Amino acid sequence: MLTIPSIIAHRGSSWDAPENTLAAFLLAWMEGADGIEADFQMTKDGEIVCVHDESLERTTGKSKRVSNCTLEELRALDAGKWKRPLYRGQRIPTLPDVLSTVPVHGQIFIELKGGPEMIPLVKKHLQAAKIDPANVRICSFNVETLLAASEAMPDYNRLLLCKRSTSEGVWEPSLHILEATMRMVKACGIYLDNVSLAAEPELAKKVRAAGKELHVWTVNRAPAARIASAMGITSLTTDRPGWLRRRLLATPTSTSDTPKVKAKPGRKPRLSKA
Ligand code: G3P
Ligand code: CA
Repeated sequence: MLTIPSIIAHRGSSWDAPENTLAAFLLAWMEGADGIEADFQMTKDGEIVCVHDESLERTTGKSKRVSNCTLEELRALDAGKWKRPLYRGQRIPTLPDVLSTVPVHGQIFIELKGGPEMIPLVKKHLQAAKIDPANVRICSFNVETLLAASEAMPDYNRLLLCKRSTSEGVWEPSLHILEATMRMVKACGIYLDNVSLAAEPELAKKVRAAGKELHVWTVNRAPAARIASAMGITSLTTDRPGWLRRRLLATPTSTSDTPKVKAKPGRKPRLSKA
């Protein structure tokens, strides 16, 4: 019997709604996600906003960097219509905006795209939001940021982001210093993508044997989610939390994950079990 890990909505329910907007986070909670993952950067005037790319081009059409804009400038942008006309008028949220959507038992994975200068503000906003620290994970590829978080806000657990580049096969951080880096930032676990996990299955065993958490992003297909789940992962992060949970609850032999094949004439079409 497959144990379904916690399901975390990557940038919200970003398959259907515009990533990193309140619409995407609210949709994730409505779909029954156990948690949300969101990306944060700092504005020119020192506010923490929820945007993935350094450039605003892809999600707002404005060819400027987030770090060169004030919050007021960012608030004027439409971060929803690029996805679907339905979401016209969605704005770039701040960290407090995103925290305000988290229900009592909801988890939030806060990915910090910037440096240690973000930490005092992140701490202030988290404390004001009164979210149980047990439901928060501070995540980053930036080791200095995690180190600053471990010093300033030790109650909020940290995850070290890591990945293996598909072209070079090089790990970031390098595998031989992974454990030492985790110790240095007092990380409770690692957070990696499922392609990297599949390339290094021994890593999963080592992390679990050490009693550490193992979180995997971005798993958008049921077969990959089943394989990762069978490896004992703590959570999986997906763009489509509601859909994926339904697929995982269906039997593993269900054909509903694969393209539909037309029934041959004269044969009764089989009903999907999903
Ligand atoms: O936080 C996990 C994952 O989201 C990291 O990659 O590029 O989607 O922020 P990215
Ligand atoms: Ca992220």
